[in-house]
Amino acid sequence: MEAQIDRKSRDAGPIGIFDSGYGGLTVLSEIRALLPEYDYIYLGDNARAPYGNRSYERVYQFTLQAVKWFFGQGCHLVILACNTASAKALRTIQQVNLPELDPHRRVLGVIRPTVESVAALSESGHIGVLGTEGTIRSGSYELEVGKLYPHITVTGEACAMWVPLVENREYDKPGSDYFVKQHLERLFKKDPLIDTIILGCTHYPLLMHKITRYLPKEANVISQGRYVAERLRDYLQRRSEMDGRCTKEGSVRYFTTDSPERFGQQASIFLNERVDALQTDIEQKL
Ligand code: DGL
Repeated sequence: MEAQIDRKSRDAGPIGIFDSGYGGLTVLSEIRALLPEYDYIYLGDNARAPYGNRSYERVYQFTLQAVKWFFGQGCHLVILACNTASAKALRTIQQVNLPELDPHRRVLGVIRPTVESVAALSESGHIGVLGTEGTIRSGSYELEVGKLYPHITVTGEACAMWVPLVENREYDKPGSDYFVKQHLERLFKKDPLIDTIILGCTHYPLLMHKITRYLPKEANVISQGRYVAERLRDYLQRRSEMDGRCTKEGSVRYFTTDSPERFGQQASIFLNERVDALQTDIEQKL
């Protein structure tokens, strides 16, 4: 594997976009809308999704396998388009693994760019974050908001059922209403002053129409994809060396660790276009 990274290290390559499953497609579609000229590889670790309630160690291990796989595909820049992976694996990969693997490659997450763009939108200084158990328990949003906006209060709510509702195509069915309402009520019970809610899970934009229906009071609900895309554009503009290592032919390829047929069917719902995926194994790459 390391030899493979070395061999490809000088060639420019696509930008890698990673998620445990389908959720990262909401981020990919915003990135492609803003930066259509670049090439992308999307990988969903569907065989092992969801990551949301897995241990720190497991999410880190799976995410590192994915990062190595992307490097083997020639990617110099990888976006963890998954809040759970960003919360539990990003820091260790950046600080411990990247210097050994290849200090010139970069792995970026979605939490920091979301916080940079969104936290200042709150007028009350009270923000809510909806996410998976793993993301909320990690306290990553509190940490990042605290660094940039120490006066802002962050309250999290873990929505355990929301990812399964999306993955099982129940997000627009009546059964999902109960769970959406339940978590929004719990969030506002914890802090009634919240005026800005971050959807801190890339699956949740598919529930947006239900979320806005059951908001107990007026508040901004923010999907992070657009902000992640804007931050990526700024990043590539500021770092011309990295920009030069990203190929630009406007292509996108999809890989999944599970069934490519199922991935194609599900992904076309997220993206509103036909998706042909390939199966890949990433486990042996550690
Ligand atoms: N899409 C992932 C996120 O943004 C969550 C999905 C999962 O639990 O695997 O956190």
